[in-house]
Amino acid sequence: MATTTRRLGRTDLEITPIGLGCMPFGGPGIANRYYPTLDQATATMIVRTALDGGVTWFDTAEMYGRGYSERTLTTALHQLGAGTGDVVIASKWTPWFRTAASIGRTVGDRLAALQGYPLGLHQIHMPHGSLSSLASQVRAMAQLHRQGRIRAVGVSNFSAAQMERAHAVLAEYGIPLASNQVQISLLERRIERDGVLAAARRLGVTLIALAPLHTGLLTGRFHEDPTLFRDVRRIRRRLAGFSSATLTRTAPLIDELRAVAAAHGATLSQVALSWLTSYYGDTVVAIPGASKPRHADESAGAMSLHLTQRELDRLADVTP
Ligand SMILES: NC(=O)c1ccc[n+]([C@@H]2O[C@H](COP(=O)([O-])OP(=O)(O)OC[C@H]3O[C@@H](n4cnc5c(N)ncnc54)[C@H](OP(=O)(O)O)[C@@H]3O)[C@@H](O)[C@H]2O)c1
Repeated sequence: MATTTRRLGRTDLEITPIGLGCMPFGGPGIANRYYPTLDQATATMIVRTALDGGVTWFDTAEMYGRGYSERTLTTALHQLGAGTGDVVIASKWTPWFRTAASIGRTVGDRLAALQGYPLGLHQIHMPHGSLSSLASQVRAMAQLHRQGRIRAVGVSNFSAAQMERAHAVLAEYGIPLASNQVQISLLERRIERDGVLAAARRLGVTLIALAPLHTGLLTGRFHEDPTLFRDVRRIRRRLAGFSSATLTRTAPLIDELRAVAAAHGATLSQVALSWLTSYYGDTVVAIPGASKPRHADESAGAMSLHLTQRELDRLADVTP
């Protein structure tokens, strides 16, 4: 199924408005504190469903099991016969307690874990935690780009000022800053106030919305059955603010999502993702996670849903 693609920042990479977040493929380690790790067979079914739905790109990270998620993803892609030129893979370098030199030292591990698939987008996972300055980290990324080991440079969790700085450093090398991956959803619209959206538009940087379903809250299933909170890992519950007060506060938004979904024969998650990838024009793309093939199917289906301007505005208006 061919879906309209968008350019990733000012790079020559084309991606679909919806990608697949691969944190649940993360194996032992930090990803596993958020989501139970999926076995290879389930991961392969999820990747297959995403590809069948028209998704062409995948977000993973070193932090998701030090190669475990990257390897699970590319094992699935190999099993499914996806060509190396058919997909774009985004990964991330972990800055914690490391100098910028580790970016060059660890890229071989990333490429080994990708098992022959190119590293399309390499991102600095977060602006804090490294023993080197941000400028040094961005320069190390620029070197990898020059060596042809990565095709695009991105950042994650960067403020507007940090984006400007990264953009300026890369400009010295004639390389565009492709993206900034930050939390954005109907329940997290900080980018409109903190300058990140304005900076992205000014610099031609794509914003990649992490946790676009607010880790599942925007599917409406917790509003239907609040006892489901019990199955969610504590760290995810805390970060997403899962509580009965949150359910009450967000109920009008969920009601509106239900109304729009019913009008289109869609699901709440599809409406939430369609809003996210339309409301900000082409600037925002999303990487919903999936623990079941059905989730990947629904998320991909959001790319065929077209909300009216009135619906987009109405949803924005009822955001708490
Ligand atoms: N850069 C960063 O610092 C950072 C941080 C966090 C995440 N990320 C990226 O963002 C991606 C997505 O984040 P996320 O998975 O935490 O949040 P999310 O995409 O907002 O939520 C995904 C979860 O929502 C539920 N879900 C998804 N589709 C559903 C559907 N159709 N019906 C019912 N439930 C559905 C599933 O929960 P259940 O599994 O409980 O069913 C799924 O695991 C990650 O995989 C990762 O690539 C990046």
